[in-house]
Amino acid sequence: MYFDRIRETALIAAMATMAGGVAAAQTEVKIGYALAPDSHYGVAARKWQDVVEAETDGRFTFRHFPSSALGGEREVIEGLQIGTIEATIVSTGTLSNFVPETGVTDIPFLFRSLDHARHVLDGPVGQEILARFDDAGMVALAWGEQGFRHITNNRNPINTPEDLAGMKLRTMENPVHLSAFNALGAAPTPMAWPEVIGALQQGTIDGQENPLSVIVSAKLYEVQKYLTLSGHVYSPAMLLVSKPFWDGLSDEDKAAFGKGAKEAVVAMRAYVDNVESSGVATLRERGMEVNALSEEQKEAFRASIESAYEDYYKTYGKDLIDRISETR
Ligand code: PAF
Repeated sequence: MYFDRIRETALIAAMATMAGGVAAAQTEVKIGYALAPDSHYGVAARKWQDVVEAETDGRFTFRHFPSSALGGEREVIEGLQIGTIEATIVSTGTLSNFVPETGVTDIPFLFRSLDHARHVLDGPVGQEILARFDDAGMVALAWGEQGFRHITNNRNPINTPEDLAGMKLRTMENPVHLSAFNALGAAPTPMAWPEVIGALQQGTIDGQENPLSVIVSAKLYEVQKYLTLSGHVYSPAMLLVSKPFWDGLSDEDKAAFGKGAKEAVVAMRAYVDNVESSGVATLRERGMEVNALSEEQKEAFRASIESAYEDYYKTYGKDLIDRISETR
């Protein structure tokens, strides 16, 4: 009896140690992103989590902070740099403030199609840009995407650059986008994403621009009347982890995060492909008035930003821009 009690106590102690050991060995990865769980960011973040958890036998677990719960994209990136946030999925629109070379991907009318963009970003140019992130306190594991950006507004349909005259259009806090909309004659208003829906509701801005993936998942049809399919710029995204966090990982765990990021990109691109073909019908059903720019109409927009291209050549080098446009 006495020995049974001792054995029982020892067993309980061993189980408690094991439970404590498992809890202590499990690392939580805080992942922050700007959009809802059912967006392309949410889908990719969950895929990333599934692969990492499976590959590491659950030694890592993800905690999601969707819908800007940790602040705007700028704050989340700063969190990665100092190591208070481990991972994010974020647009390049914000990243060029941290790694200026990224801005070349934000140049309007540079990418011809999703295939062209994916080809460039998965190829040497894209990989060279990813490698720049280490110096900025982050590790860039893969290129995701949002799709091509289009203009929404509450003032009028847009068919020509003149229709944008003086329009208070929210842009990302991104110098490349800003100079393009200035050249087009709009009144671009850089603003962090968490403020945008409120500003549209209150009428302090007339419109904004984002891909269908965002317009649908963020329900912009509730606050915007007109959608112009301008496709003026491709919008890449990136899957990033904090460098302080990365430096503490074993090679095996780094491989798990890398594999997860690649599979997340596949899921994200499939989401974008789907919304690019179904999104317009959804938005029309929700009451938006939609017009698509013809190739001739787009040409007028391209011509209007010719002066901005001179700045882009100076900033990023004509060679690099040509390398991108010549990629087949
Ligand atoms: O417009 C933006 O700021 C970005 O496209 C968004 C919606 C935050 C997604 O990265």
